[in-house]
Amino acid sequence: MSDVNPVSLIAAKRDGDALSGDDLRTLVKGYTDGTVPDYQMSAFLMAAYLNGLSAAEAAALTDAMLHSGAHIDLSSVSGTKVGKHSTGGVGDKVSPILVPLVASCGVPVAKLSGRGLGHTGGTIDKLESIPGFRTNLSVGQYRRQVGDVGGVIAGQTGEVAPADKKIYALRDVTATVDSIPLIAASIMSKKLAEGNDALVLDVKCGRGAFMKTDADARALAETLVAIGAEHDMPVAAVMTNMDVPLGRAVGNWPEIREAIACLRGEHRESSLMQIVRGLAGEMIALGGQAETPEEGRAKARNAIEEGEALAQFRALVDAQDGDPAVVEDPDVRSDSAPIAEVSVPTGTSGYVADLDALSIGQAAVELGAGRQTKEASVDPMAGLTRLKKPGDPVEEGDVLARLHASEAPDLRAVRAAVRDAYTVSDAPPSAAPALKARYDAEGWTRLSESAAGAV
Ligand code: URA
Repeated sequence: MSDVNPVSLIAAKRDGDALSGDDLRTLVKGYTDGTVPDYQMSAFLMAAYLNGLSAAEAAALTDAMLHSGAHIDLSSVSGTKVGKHSTGGVGDKVSPILVPLVASCGVPVAKLSGRGLGHTGGTIDKLESIPGFRTNLSVGQYRRQVGDVGGVIAGQTGEVAPADKKIYALRDVTATVDSIPLIAASIMSKKLAEGNDALVLDVKCGRGAFMKTDADARALAETLVAIGAEHDMPVAAVMTNMDVPLGRAVGNWPEIREAIACLRGEHRESSLMQIVRGLAGEMIALGGQAETPEEGRAKARNAIEEGEALAQFRALVDAQDGDPAVVEDPDVRSDSAPIAEVSVPTGTSGYVADLDALSIGQAAVELGAGRQTKEASVDPMAGLTRLKKPGDPVEEGDVLARLHASEAPDLRAVRAAVRDAYTVSDAPPSAAPALKARYDAEGWTRLSESAAGAV
């Protein structure tokens, strides 16, 4: 690394001074090649978390992380390739549904995904719960698959934004995840490298998201789109609700199982599928296979109904060596039985009025679905299923959630946390819209697919 001392850069950020592009490049390069140790990068991240980064610093950090590795060239694949990324949520199994769905509508999708972060799950951990499924593809395999199959979801190889890969794992265990510039730089460094021509972002907003308020989610969406514009990448950001978990399952295999059910045409009017169609509409339009996002949504609905999206998922699983038997019949897995249930307490009945996504995400981590340390592995079977959701009628003794884990942890705290995550009231709550708003280089627009009755 250059003769700039990392301690002076950490001190500058700690004291609220701005760092130059060269400073950030030095730090990122040093961390990537191992000359800056974890403890110095952790200190820098905490200083950046507490004092923020300017738009110029966020753009420079993105560039430094982007240039820490290769830029994947997908120009040999015909068509407009469109990527997708989520800022992270609880029960967010959108990608395993969306990627094959959009590919089945004629838009190639190449996706590099991450592992679980904090209380949120990661698509790579989820897909690896399919026996045999390979996520560590080489760049050549990734490129071939998007050309031959139309869709690919791979882990971030050492070649692509290696700085983000290391920093992401460190942020997960140093309480430095929920920062707008750090999230924006992390996402865009990967997305600019993954080879797509355009990008759709699911910016999650609410208790279970890293952005808790509309104002923060809007600021994140604007930062992401601005970084895209600087790199001539058309980006549409869709802001979606993450106050309650998405769907009725949280955890790696539990979510893949629910994703397969959605690809089979179940849960069509759920908020999960509204979000899937909302994002699919944007991707299909950006990919040139629909005139408008609305037309794209209609195509997406049709592709599920005609079984084309499920066929595309089968092809993706097959290409990545996953066991096709679990796609055909998820019940063939004998290791997926629940180990306990959480029930409605005595004397309580009415309707689920609220369910706190953050508490449910944390309970899933306790059960083994996420990591407490950088080196930890996840339990693919761990998590929660058959979650009761806002609007569901409940009576004393009804099951609110089933708990799954391969090795039974102490369940008392988990049970209490799950029970406390629920609010039950006499009247059903009014439904919150799943799709909140969309932002691109033209500005903000409201989104319309109604969430009435959706869970
Ligand atoms: N997703 C990412 O890729 N990075 C973050 O920092 C948060 C969500």
